[in-house]
Amino acid sequence: MLRRDFAKTAVMAGGALVLGRRLGSQSAADSRIEIALDEPIATIAPEIYGHFTENLGGVIYDGVWVGENSPVPNVGGIRRALVEKLRAIHAPVIRWPGGCFADSYDWRDGVGPRDKRPRRTNFWVGSAEQHHLGNGPQAFDPNQFGTDEFVHFCRLAGAEPYFAANLRSLPALQFDRWVEYCNSPAGSTAAADLRAASGSPQPYDVRYWGVGNESWGCGGNFTPEEYAAEYRRFTSWVPDYGVGLKLIASGPSSDDVDWTTRFFDNILGSRPITAPFGWSVHNYTFGKDALKFDANEAYATFKKAFSTEKIIVDNWAALGVYDTKRRVKLVVDEYGDWYNGGNNLGSEVSPADIFGQQITMRDAIVTAFTLDIFNRHADKVALGACAQLINCINALFLAHGDQFTVTPNYHVFDLYAAHQGGQAVRAEFSAPTLNLMDTGGKPAPASFWGLNGSASRRGATLTLTVVNPHLTEARDTEVAIRGARPTAATARVLTGPDIHAHNTFAAPDAVTPRAATAVVSSGAVRFTFPAASVTQLTVAL
Ligand code: AHR
Repeated sequence: MLRRDFAKTAVMAGGALVLGRRLGSQSAADSRIEIALDEPIATIAPEIYGHFTENLGGVIYDGVWVGENSPVPNVGGIRRALVEKLRAIHAPVIRWPGGCFADSYDWRDGVGPRDKRPRRTNFWVGSAEQHHLGNGPQAFDPNQFGTDEFVHFCRLAGAEPYFAANLRSLPALQFDRWVEYCNSPAGSTAAADLRAASGSPQPYDVRYWGVGNESWGCGGNFTPEEYAAEYRRFTSWVPDYGVGLKLIASGPSSDDVDWTTRFFDNILGSRPITAPFGWSVHNYTFGKDALKFDANEAYATFKKAFSTEKIIVDNWAALGVYDTKRRVKLVVDEYGDWYNGGNNLGSEVSPADIFGQQITMRDAIVTAFTLDIFNRHADKVALGACAQLINCINALFLAHGDQFTVTPNYHVFDLYAAHQGGQAVRAEFSAPTLNLMDTGGKPAPASFWGLNGSASRRGATLTLTVVNPHLTEARDTEVAIRGARPTAATARVLTGPDIHAHNTFAAPDAVTPRAATAVVSSGAVRFTFPAASVTQLTVAL
């Protein structure tokens, strides 16, 4: 049970003084948001809104790739409905082929004529879920979707490709060769000729390259020092081909700052090498059941997911000791709610889709406040990738054969797309704090914020995204803006009849954003954020 406990925070008192103005004539709101346009944080990198597609379960085969001869509408084998939706949300970047799969993948298996490509055992066949896999492409990889198909997919979606290179089971030379295949000029190398034979004489100009994945775990079980030695070998003198490679090193599991410190002590300490562009960070919430959960479990999921903010702050501090010029940015390239302990994953999930699960409003709330965290730390986070895009973990889409639906997470990305490239500005939220009661009626030590979000400015338009995590109470809120006067405001709200609300193949619009009225009066905006909701407010200044 959630108990309401109004806590007027120091932030609220301080913010009210700073702004020096209160809404006078209306009845008192129970919450307040204060936006300081004169306190910019940084430009929000569009890449924060990126995605992740691993060759795992139903992500690639059935999800992205249906094949050219499929009755499912497709563009050169890629699911058409998926690329249309990705274009609509301005998907900026997509990561592939893993995840753990990446460190078992030989890029050479996925190039050249498709009918000549070898079939291989998928990394995930060894997982505890393998009994679901049967002998389908999820277990025995036909390699029909390789480098060329992935780049084609990215281009159709309007996104940049982000490759994750194999550091555990291929030599460093094969990293050079994969970069050469993608980026060497037309006619210059055997790899470029091979690429041309597949229809692409011009280079793909791939900038983003992950150097291993979770190298502390499935990516090699390395110590930070061992991984640093591999990283040195893999990244020294990789030809750039004028592309401006952005290399991303494999960072810690959640908040293991020791991994961060020891890696950077090695590569930027007494024998420094070129700093990577990005430091990859992963954070999942592990829960039991995607559809069957009570208020306490929903609240516990929120609490766990919010640790992403601390992970960002902690790793940023650890990085700053070595990277005093702040060249290295954080890349949160796997995050999301993951329910791997229960059976109630939803009827949309095919048995072969390991780690497939339904997505409810609980997950939309987590995805939304995670994107808000990225926006608030736009000076630190350069790229994000929601895990994963389709049919797996925190998906934006579910698909099976010709059946397809967006999930509430898709709508979150739609509502938040307006932040891409905007100037993040400081926003302070003051609302009744949520306190969790245990079933015996005693307050648990846990509490959670009552309203949170992020704000960005683009010219005369302010975008404010807000999450109300309270499962039953709306928040009547005044939004004060320092540095400009609001002239009009519109709202789009994502919520459902209940926190368990989700979309199905039969009812794909059960959870979809609706327009709502925001009132501008006395120089401020007034809006009521419904219970368990995600809102986009667009304010004309
Ligand atoms: O996203 C599923 C898996 O989670 C990825 O393969 C791995 O990187 C992480 O542990």
